[in-house]
Amino acid sequence: QSEIYAQGLEGRTPKITTDPAALEDAAGALLEPWAFGYVAGNAGTGSTARANADAFGQWRIVPRMLTDATTRDLRTSLFGEDLPAPVLLAPVGVQSIVHPDGELATARAAAGLGVPSVLSTAASHTIEDVADACGGGPRWFQLYWPNDDDVTASILRRARDAGFTTLVVTLDTWTLAWRPRDLDNAYVPFVRGVGTAIPFSDPAFRALLDRPPEEDLAGAVQRWVPMFTGTDKSWGRLSLLRQLWDGPIVLKGILHADDARRAADAGMDGIVVSNHGGRQVDGAIASLDALPLIVEAVGDRIEVLFDSGIRSASDVVKALALGARAVLLGRPYVYGLAHGGEEGVRDVLRGVLADLDLTLGLAGYRTPAELSQGSLMRAPGS
Ligand code: FNR
Repeated sequence: QSEIYAQGLEGRTPKITTDPAALEDAAGALLEPWAFGYVAGNAGTGSTARANADAFGQWRIVPRMLTDATTRDLRTSLFGEDLPAPVLLAPVGVQSIVHPDGELATARAAAGLGVPSVLSTAASHTIEDVADACGGGPRWFQLYWPNDDDVTASILRRARDAGFTTLVVTLDTWTLAWRPRDLDNAYVPFVRGVGTAIPFSDPAFRALLDRPPEEDLAGAVQRWVPMFTGTDKSWGRLSLLRQLWDGPIVLKGILHADDARRAADAGMDGIVVSNHGGRQVDGAIASLDALPLIVEAVGDRIEVLFDSGIRSASDVVKALALGARAVLLGRPYVYGLAHGGEEGVRDVLRGVLADLDLTLGLAGYRTPAELSQGSLMRAPGS
């Protein structure tokens, strides 16, 4: 923040807007409509995405005065790893459709700040290349759980060999939802973005193909989609992942307190309370509305992370106050990537961290751990 003020004295303005609402519009003006539609789009009528935003509006922060919050300490730790702030970058697939450097740029920007960026199974760069881009930074890997156990084992082996430590297993996307903007674009983003994706570079997956994906992309996509589709998994099958992964496992896409309990009972280390940013079940509850009940159910047993709808630091403060240990930022950083690759992701992330530092302090708190539900009040009438 002080840097931006100082630049102002020299007549320089930030390269990317610091206004969260303007960020999306600016990306929309830059990207091809099919690419922007994929990133900004939601399931069905968009009602869940709107509910996510509305849910933040129904809570208000109640600032406290004279609390000696002039200096703050945002640091936290998760699964034994020290983080500069309770903020991560959410897994987002096919990032090359918004910028050629895609996940490599995201990984470099996040690693430069010590923030974990969760690498998606549907990434457009390989596990090994993204691991290099992470340098000395944290390495988290997100799994879309294949139906073929050999492919699952192969992908997880590669992730482990590449130094990834925490595994995030996304449960809410066992098939893609009805997403009108992508349907209207005939899923061009997927076909263009997955050509170099992780499964396509995976030896166990390639062994199942008649011809290499470089020669027969359509055939590879047709083989890939059913492999990640279907509900033949069950809570009991999580033991397979436990066998294949010796680090922490976090289940992403939990919205019901009973499912949170089952995750804890199954020996999982954490969950992400998430509705995939409103991109899966249209009409689903807001992720923030699910959070307090889930924290009450399992907050003392496993780590409860949160995403969906975070657009500003005050949203982060609200999620932390409602019991999230950390939050994952989704679309805003992808818009930063669209604007300026690595630098764009860094600018957006630094902006959120600086805003979080200020908002926390101005609300009267020195550390995220000091926040509680008592830091908030329900908006009148909600
Ligand atoms: C996603 N998300 C996602 N999640 C996941 O587990 N694996 C993935 O590959 C993707 N891909 C993806 C692509 C795009 C374009 C978006 C916008 C989202 C979901 C993501 O991790 C996160 O849950 C949401 O983005 C959070 O919502 P907001 O913050 O974007 O509203």
